[in-house]
Amino acid sequence: GNTKVSLYEPMRKHTTMLVGGPAQFWVEPGTFECFSSVVKYCRERGVPVRVIGRGSNLLVRDGGIRGVVIHPSQGVFGEVRVDGETITAGVGVRFKKLASVAQKAGLTGFEWMEGIPGNVGGGLRMNAGAMGAETFDQVLEVTFLDGDGEIRTRTREEIDSYYRNVPELRRNFALSAKFKGEKAAAEEIQQGMEESMQKRRSSQPLAASAGCVFKNPEPMPAGMLVDTLGFKDVSVGKARVSLEHGNFIVNDGKASASEVIELIEQIREQARSEKGIELETEVQI
Ligand code: EPU
Repeated sequence: GNTKVSLYEPMRKHTTMLVGGPAQFWVEPGTFECFSSVVKYCRERGVPVRVIGRGSNLLVRDGGIRGVVIHPSQGVFGEVRVDGETITAGVGVRFKKLASVAQKAGLTGFEWMEGIPGNVGGGLRMNAGAMGAETFDQVLEVTFLDGDGEIRTRTREEIDSYYRNVPELRRNFALSAKFKGEKAAAEEIQQGMEESMQKRRSSQPLAASAGCVFKNPEPMPAGMLVDTLGFKDVSVGKARVSLEHGNFIVNDGKASASEVIELIEQIREQARSEKGIELETEVQI
């Protein structure tokens, strides 16, 4: 179909952190079948294959990515359809777009998605969330490629989801999902959208970042912990801990992935030695 392919595609162009070396083979499929054939081709030959959505919670190393990187963003992957109180979206649809489609359709439940920079695919894989809500609160079913590259659909009850973790979607690539909403008054939805925007503007940086770096650990939110450890505004090269929010690392301009990783390691080390807290990254490295 309208599949696009390129060689040595720079990943800094495809991540919001604006860092990362090249992907050896970059493929932008336009149909489920094309996505499936590429996965089958790679699996049969032992070629590493991974998927990158909007790259908004992702840190690609400076050495780049060996093998094939699939970027489902165009064609069927960018489609969104409202049907009564449900919305079906391809994995290439932005969460922000989903929030605005829901608002136009008079559906509530999607307002928090206004604050999520990523695409549906990444959000499903990590069970993205904000404002006390998370992706799987609203999923009815997910269509994905199984380990053999076959297209399957499962209901939410058949998929285990946890805080920022959906084990099944680590190996199986999501293609689209159906979400449920509820009819509500326009003013109520508008108010939710505004709260979501307000929360982001008041506490999160505008500079290039990969969203929250760490998952919130048990005793206190990661942002507060990093703040308490005195890491705000600390930098390694051009990578710096945001002054606005301790759980964000911003790219001051020409940061490299290794500078960002070094800063992450310094924070983890200090959280471990000073507080006995083992921080886990939320960003995929
Ligand atoms: N705090 C500090 N110092 C800081 C940052 C935060 O003391 O530098 C305090 C805040 O005052 C607040 C608490 O820590 O009392 C929690 O902060 P916040 O309300 O900003 O929420 P969060 O737990 O840090 C979570 C999600 C965000 C999401 C927001 C908004 C995680 C790891 N993060 O942040 O998600 O946008 O709630 O609802 O669960 C992301 O996943 O990439 C992300 C940014």
